[in-house]
Amino acid sequence: MTIKNICCIGAGYVGGPTMSVIAQKCPNIKVTVVDINEDRIAAWNHKDLSRLPVYEPGLDKVVEEARGRNLFFSTEVDKAINDADMIFISVNTPTKTYGKGKGMAADLKYIELCARQIARVAKQDKIVVEKSTLPVRTASAIKSILENTGNGVQFQILSNPEFLAEGTAVQDLLHPDRVLIGGDTTQEGQKAIQALVDIYANWIPNERILTTNVWSSELSKLTANAFLAQRVSSINAMSVICENTGADINEVSKAIGMDSRIGPKFLKASVGFGGSCFQKDILNLVYIAKTYGLDEVADYWEQVVLMNDYQKNRFSDNIVSTLYNTVSGKKITFFGWAFKKDTNDTRESAAIKVADNLLSEKANLSVYDPKVTEERIYADLDYLNSRSEEENRKLLKVQNNPYNAIKNSHAIAILTEWDEFKTYDWQKIYDNMHKPAFIFDGRGILDTKALSKIGFICYKIGSATTV
Ligand code: UDX
Ligand code: UDX
Ligand code: ADP
Repeated sequence: MTIKNICCIGAGYVGGPTMSVIAQKCPNIKVTVVDINEDRIAAWNHKDLSRLPVYEPGLDKVVEEARGRNLFFSTEVDKAINDADMIFISVNTPTKTYGKGKGMAADLKYIELCARQIARVAKQDKIVVEKSTLPVRTASAIKSILENTGNGVQFQILSNPEFLAEGTAVQDLLHPDRVLIGGDTTQEGQKAIQALVDIYANWIPNERILTTNVWSSELSKLTANAFLAQRVSSINAMSVICENTGADINEVSKAIGMDSRIGPKFLKASVGFGGSCFQKDILNLVYIAKTYGLDEVADYWEQVVLMNDYQKNRFSDNIVSTLYNTVSGKKITFFGWAFKKDTNDTRESAAIKVADNLLSEKANLSVYDPKVTEERIYADLDYLNSRSEEENRKLLKVQNNPYNAIKNSHAIAILTEWDEFKTYDWQKIYDNMHKPAFIFDGRGILDTKALSKIGFICYKIGSATTV
């Protein structure tokens, strides 16, 4: 079976970049990305490539090459479904905010809507690919909806979890460590798997394309994210011990990372992990474990999230206690709001929780992030419902220039590891702040020795405070 026409439902951080790269690498396949959000589709179609809705290094070039050739962004969902041989589902699966499994289970309402829509529209056999991160056994729910509400056509369901990390999405898509495809063990299932393998084989070496059964594929995605997040929580747990003992977390990371069984990646202590996946996927795993009565397993993984909450809270607590136990009316500048560098995504960013804690202490915040919009920052805070929208806007100001942002600040907190922060004129910044001038480096990116020579009092995560 050769795929000629692909539709992807959901033009977000996963669907947009993934389909752009598939279109770039497979010029003979027509790829249509659809979304119900008209503004988002308009932004994907924007002439000015700096206005794409997702910021990713290199993405503009890929879109420029493929868009209008064999890559299309549209709101005509039914038409795209009908025309496609293969349909990717890339819609969001947030944590449930209501009912059973509230705060833990994945909310599958968007997935279910997609499945029903596909069932209603499809007039010929289709391969449906789960791209969103989903709880194990979602494929069987999708299959049941498709088969029981459809027009009698055949569906094959594949699980093809996305492992790209934001900020490096294009590189991760071009050179993935592996591509994982899960499908039925039946002959039809194997044919569908092969059709998807053939697409990736256009640019990915065969030995990096793994095929498994559907459940293994779904569970591998949750497991990979749980392991990665666990490494961050583990190193963050050690960062507190370092601060109390005089050990230095960067030295510890280096020393343990050289053990080939441990490896050097994902050992950077931070103010806490964020992003749309880690917390959601772990809570999802916890919920699955509880569903099977596996309380010990559930508690084990939940601790990774609890440690992350602790890390965010202790960062803001430390700011308050260092600033003589009160930040009321004091100006604190945040450098960074995104959950990591090189993305405009802020979902679950540590900055949100740290800001909320400091606003509850009546601090005045000034925020500068190179890529995140003012609307996004206020929306993130308003969503927490901790205080009125007016108060959020009164207490927190968003700035588009770092040197204006810091004027008359008592302290600067680094929340995202943007490279540009390292090359600022820190003497000029110091001269424009209240004294003593404090820096709280939540990402361990600044040269605190040089900064303390200027006169700053520096706290760096996992290191002794330098004066
Ligand atoms: C360990 C450390 O590896 C070593 O660096 C340190 O100096 C001493 O402690 P050791 O206990 O001798 O060494 O063996 P190791 O290979 O680490 O295995 C420890 C236990 O973990 C064994 O029971 C092993 O069977 C088990 N294990 C290890 C697993 O169950 N699964 C694995 O993937 C690896
Ligand atoms: C993650 C997975 O890496 C990716 O495979 C999956 O498809 C989606 O979830 P993403 O959330 O985009 O990707 O970014 P990632 O690089 O994993 O970082 C997640 C968070 O952990 C960020 O807030 C980052 O700053 C933090 N982190 C990461 C650390 O604090 N220390 C580290 O050493 C690594
Ligand atoms: P992710 O990081 O998983 O890509 P995003 O929230 O960035 O998540 O993107 C998911 C996209 O899916 C959103 O743009 C949303 O509008 C879209 N979406 C959700 N449900 C549907 C649906 N039923 N039909 C079309 N698009 C949908």
